[in-house]
Amino acid sequence: MLKRFPIAGLVVGAAVLVGFMAARPGDAQTPATPKRYLPEWTASGDLILPKGFHRWVFVGSPLTPNALNGGKANFPEFHNVYIEPGSYEIYKQTGEFPEGTILFKELQLTLPGENSDGSRTELSGRGYFGGPLNGADVTVKDTKRFPDTGGWGYFNFHHYEPKAATAKAMPKSECAYCHMASAKKDEVWTQFYPLLDNPKLD
Ligand code: HEC
Repeated sequence: MLKRFPIAGLVVGAAVLVGFMAARPGDAQTPATPKRYLPEWTASGDLILPKGFHRWVFVGSPLTPNALNGGKANFPEFHNVYIEPGSYEIYKQTGEFPEGTILFKELQLTLPGENSDGSRTELSGRGYFGGPLNGADVTVKDTKRFPDTGGWGYFNFHHYEPKAATAKAMPKSECAYCHMASAKKDEVWTQFYPLLDNPKLD
């Protein structure tokens, strides 16, 4: 009998330890910080189409349909905007976009309209509904590579599908001038994305 006590003690101790390890408080609420996906470049400095962006954090979807833009909008699609999750975590903590941040704007056509304003009626009501994907625009924060455009590089991966495999940085006169002049925070239109406008939002 005496001999069995230490073993029982060990067993109980081990069980408590396993239970403790399995259920640390806060486990469910605080997932590990995601590993960052950083921009990948070709030897000549072109941006390689970022991988896995459909699983990134979705921040918003501005829409400028043709029918509300004199029949021909520059971008008639939904602009579905994602941020790379590791960069988003850092942004939440610091309020600044870290070096290597990627913002991915994927264009998504609306389904053909049935009314003069380009809208159609679905079971949820009359409005605009997402159709096929249609290319992408991407920005990358890299102050060393892109000092002339405020520290961000601007890339167009086609405004049609399939997206280009790589893209060259666009000149300031094509993209950055407009972002630099009017985007709310560090060349990003955070005014349209509650998650980025208020980094504390969960
Ligand atoms: C005339 C102004 C203007 C020009 C030029 C412009 N953009 Fe933008 N861009 C905007 C506005 C406004 C938004 C947010 C609203 C929207 O998408 O309609 C935006 C959003 C974006 C976003 C989503 C992230 C963010 O900053 O909000 C990316 C990525 C982007 N633009 C890339 C580009 C690229 C690449 C070019 C050049 C090929 C470009 N833009 C040219 C005005 C502009």
